[in-house]
Amino acid sequence: MAKRTITTEFTTEDAGIETSLRPKYLKDYIGQEKVKNNLKIYIEAAKQRNDSLDHVLLYGPPGLGKTTLAGIISNEMGVNLKITAGPAIEKPGEMAAILNNLQDGDVLFVDEIHRLNRQVEEVLYPAMEDFAIDVVIGKGASARSIRLELPRFTLVGATTRAGMLSAPLRDRFGVVHRLEFYTNDELVQIISNSAIKLGVELDTDGAAELAGRSRGTPRLANRLLKRVRDFAQIKYDGNITKEVADFALDLLEVDKAGLDNTDRLVLKTLINSFGGGPVGLDTLAVSIGEDAGTLEDVYEPYLVQKGFLLRTSRGRVASDAAYRHFGIEQKQTPDA
Ligand SMILES: Nc1ncnc2c1ncn2[C@@H]1O[C@H](COP(=O)(O)OP(=O)(O)OP(=O)(O)O)[C@@H](O)[C@H]1O
Ligand SMILES: [Mg+2]
Repeated sequence: MAKRTITTEFTTEDAGIETSLRPKYLKDYIGQEKVKNNLKIYIEAAKQRNDSLDHVLLYGPPGLGKTTLAGIISNEMGVNLKITAGPAIEKPGEMAAILNNLQDGDVLFVDEIHRLNRQVEEVLYPAMEDFAIDVVIGKGASARSIRLELPRFTLVGATTRAGMLSAPLRDRFGVVHRLEFYTNDELVQIISNSAIKLGVELDTDGAAELAGRSRGTPRLANRLLKRVRDFAQIKYDGNITKEVADFALDLLEVDKAGLDNTDRLVLKTLINSFGGGPVGLDTLAVSIGEDAGTLEDVYEPYLVQKGFLLRTSRGRVASDAAYRHFGIEQKQTPDA
């Protein structure tokens, strides 16, 4: 699959700006009010008790601020942040060593936590519950297990696939939050803050234009801002106005609704070749030259979320909004 400009997953292009744009404290973290209010209370309470924060699980689509929030939690608590990821830990002993090296109150951030293997995950159960790990010493008949006390730490787990987390692991998190897509107003704030940090001149209409095309995702908003900035520098006087944003984003083939060429191909095929549907997933996939899994998992979610594509029991249907988006007259109402 070719790399898409609008992908919300982390790309090497993001590496240069993400760290510098990442908010460090709750007051700078835009949106996600429910999560923020909740965390504020838990953090205050833990600090008052001089205790570690309860374990926190954050889930939701890529680029919405899970890693950012883990950093904020450690900053607000005034403790160290240790970062690792599910696929990076292969053996139970490696997890035990990481846990054993933590200091009192520290935050251990485990990204892609759904990808921990079973044996490694089992080390976490007593660690999360009792702040202890069981270590087996010796071999065969003389083997015995001893309990090792751990510092009181906070596990912050992040996943884009909450459904793939095992029940025993999920149950051990005291605080569980799903991150939501951002509103246009929130994205305007994020983009405006980023522009200040990057030293880019940006007006309100320019910010609004970028926000509308950012698929509810801060990572993409920042990436588009950076692309448009480069463009403004070369072609214009460096300022990002609505006109510049429009021109640059059209050139990048990201349309007003944040759709790229592939998104448009899916919808237009549905409308032009199948009369708007309903048409089966497999048939639609073959028509656009993709496999059904990719169409369903990669292309469809945003189209469904925007209300352009409907998944019905009889197949995929293009919505009225999809017709309106392309300015195509609807011959008959799709019988969805
Ligand atoms: N609430 C927010 N306010 C301001 N900026 C944000 C916010 N959330 C995310 N960002 C910006 O978006 C970028 C991506 O966020 P982050 O890396 O935390 O996403 P993620 O949920 O961990 O993604 P992934 O699932 O790919 O790991 C950050 O570098 C930050 O600049
Ligand atoms: Mg992350």
